[in-house]
Amino acid sequence: MNDLAGKHIVLGLTGGIACYKAAELCRALVKEGATVQVVMTEAAAQFITPVTMQALSNRPVYTSQWDGREANNMAHINLSREADAILIAPCSADFMAKLLHGGADELLSLMCLARPMDKVPLLIAPAMNREMWAHPATRRNVAQLQADGCTVFEVGSGEQACGETGDGRMLEAQELIQDVVAFFQPKVLSSQHVLITAGPTYEAIDPVRGITNLSSGKMGFAIARAAQEAGAEVTLVAGPVALSTPRGVRRVDVKSASNMLAACVEYARAASIFVAAAAVADWRPAAPAEHKLKKDGSGRTPALEFVENPDILATLAQSPRAQSGDLYCVGFAAESQDLLDNATAKRIRKGVPLLVGNIGPATFGQDDNALLLVDTTGATEIPRNSKLALARQLVAEIARRIEH
Ligand code: C5P
Repeated sequence: MNDLAGKHIVLGLTGGIACYKAAELCRALVKEGATVQVVMTEAAAQFITPVTMQALSNRPVYTSQWDGREANNMAHINLSREADAILIAPCSADFMAKLLHGGADELLSLMCLARPMDKVPLLIAPAMNREMWAHPATRRNVAQLQADGCTVFEVGSGEQACGETGDGRMLEAQELIQDVVAFFQPKVLSSQHVLITAGPTYEAIDPVRGITNLSSGKMGFAIARAAQEAGAEVTLVAGPVALSTPRGVRRVDVKSASNMLAACVEYARAASIFVAAAAVADWRPAAPAEHKLKKDGSGRTPALEFVENPDILATLAQSPRAQSGDLYCVGFAAESQDLLDNATAKRIRKGVPLLVGNIGPATFGQDDNALLLVDTTGATEIPRNSKLALARQLVAEIARRIEH
């Protein structure tokens, strides 16, 4: 992906053992297409060398405001004017306290103070011992930095370098990069609560066997990530899939269509948008066996009877909140042919304002896809792209429709 293409990030490092993660973060930023200018405090250079950071960012590192390489000798002005954001990772407790008071006795803090606040956002990834993180002084500093417009990323929890266990670790590079990418996405769904279904369902035949399908859940998970990036509160009801939960998304794992319906009914109460991306089994065995079905040597096969599963999308689309316009419902149609006709008919049958058609065999398990959006006014194509790129476009299309 090139989610940070064209972005110039000043990556600031302050003193802390989490500096080892900054190397990986720098690489991840470059991989996403950003140009990265590293600035390090003296304390940071005790933990990781400027040589490492220069090699990874492919630019000389700045460590001092007296750096003679700048013609005007004003590194703090020049570096901050070029940036699309200043990201401090790791940000120590001491550096947070310094930022809060507008301290400016070395290059990094000087640059933060000198940055044009309306153009260059400040993002910090705190890293410290759990007692330091929990200390009332740090709590106050976090609150005040946020009030001053700084974005304070979460901290991780777990084993710390000091041997203690608790909150305060810096997030992993792969988590931070998601947060940075999300930061730059337009907040078109802020104040919305999006409920999404994803993946297949699993309908038990007996305690060890069941019926499922090849849905990977990738599209639904991508929509969850895109909605979260767009500022929504997101609940993702997932059938059995091996995918990691997008950051900041509440995930509810379910197995069968009946479980999925129950979860959706519960979470739809607070939702304003419902996107049904799951491949829900149409039928389930009428009476799952209590014990494992056994071969008896006669060659006879078990006679399985099926009953129809509840239609989750249609159920929610007919709910009073959807009918009164408080819950905007979006369905999916995986077809093998005649996409426009089938998707148009399905939109009407399901009673939803927007239906997203795709060709089933071309999407199951794939990382990319193409979509056809069908609403009351007609159809719009979203050409082949990664599922995350499609999900972001779909989120923008939904946002545009709920505004009207
Ligand atoms: O009827 P069909 O399965 O083709 O409809 C697909 C759409 O309906 C998808 O959005 C899917 O998530 C949803 N659906 C559902 N519950 C079912 C069957 C489908 O929510 N039992």
